[in-house]
Amino acid sequence: MARLKVIFDTDPGVDDAMALLLLARHPDVELIGVTSCFGNGSIDTTTRNALFLKQRFGFAAPVARGAAGPLVGDASEPPAFVHGDNGLGNIALPPITAVADPRPAAQLIVDLVRANPGQVTIIAVGRMTNLALALKLDPQIDALVKALVVMGGAFGRNGHTGNVTPVAEANIIGDPAAADIVFGARWPTTIVGLDVTMQSIMTAAYVEALARDAGEDGKFVAAITDFYANFYTSTGQTSDGLPVHDSSAVAYALHPEFFTVERGPVRVISGGIAHGQTILRPEKKFDHAADWNGRPSVNVCVGVDSAAFLAFYRETLTRS
Ligand code: BDR
Ligand code: CA
Repeated sequence: MARLKVIFDTDPGVDDAMALLLLARHPDVELIGVTSCFGNGSIDTTTRNALFLKQRFGFAAPVARGAAGPLVGDASEPPAFVHGDNGLGNIALPPITAVADPRPAAQLIVDLVRANPGQVTIIAVGRMTNLALALKLDPQIDALVKALVVMGGAFGRNGHTGNVTPVAEANIIGDPAAADIVFGARWPTTIVGLDVTMQSIMTAAYVEALARDAGEDGKFVAAITDFYANFYTSTGQTSDGLPVHDSSAVAYALHPEFFTVERGPVRVISGGIAHGQTILRPEKKFDHAADWNGRPSVNVCVGVDSAAFLAFYRETLTRS
């Protein structure tokens, strides 16, 4: 069976690094490109971290530097209180010898999709600025992408509405205009939002077992997640451990059967107190909302078999 060709668009970020590790270690994945975006750190920080992860995990795919800020306005202050000052839980970083691809991220995305028409799955786990810029560079590429899986948004299912404001999730509020463009394009899209990512928790015992059983990779996950897990427990968002946001998007790309979805067009609010809110118009529900008309239906994940997903993460790391 041909391996899944994946472009990973990311703002590493602790949970981004965990997701990239899953991609790097999974035998059915051919990682063909990694693109950085501002978000969990400045673009300098997230690009440096992506290059560090390339040398640490030993993958060959090019890393290209992406957007430094959103399509409209300025980047907000990086959430150092979530991911640490260096974006990777404040672990000590070695000198970075890997170098970035000379192309901007949006150009690398266009080139890789054009070189592999109908074969590329894009997994986007940061602001969607690079994808919106790629569409601007080449407005036809959405029809050439096999699948797009996005970690972002919140739709109120399972009680999850937002993690930056009462209605907005971080990746979406970081660039709502880009997200609205990306969710309106023709690529077959699945949104993996807080509705499901907050349902899959790696407890302290789970991480300890990974550190024990998954070699250097397990120890690395334990090291980078210490600070991150403390954020979630100290703010009362979990009673024990960390939610597994970005790896959930990787899991969907490889095992969609772990998830249940609703379908319909999605709009993203820009401006006002609902800035960054994602709103699904369910396919089967009649209404008069013209603002959703003419937009493609996307999959919105509303349920997850978290036990199967967490076992999949552990198995991938322990058998590699
Ligand atoms: C998302 O925001 C970032 O902090 C994480 O890396 C994840 O992509 C969760 O809201
Ligand atoms: Ca991320």
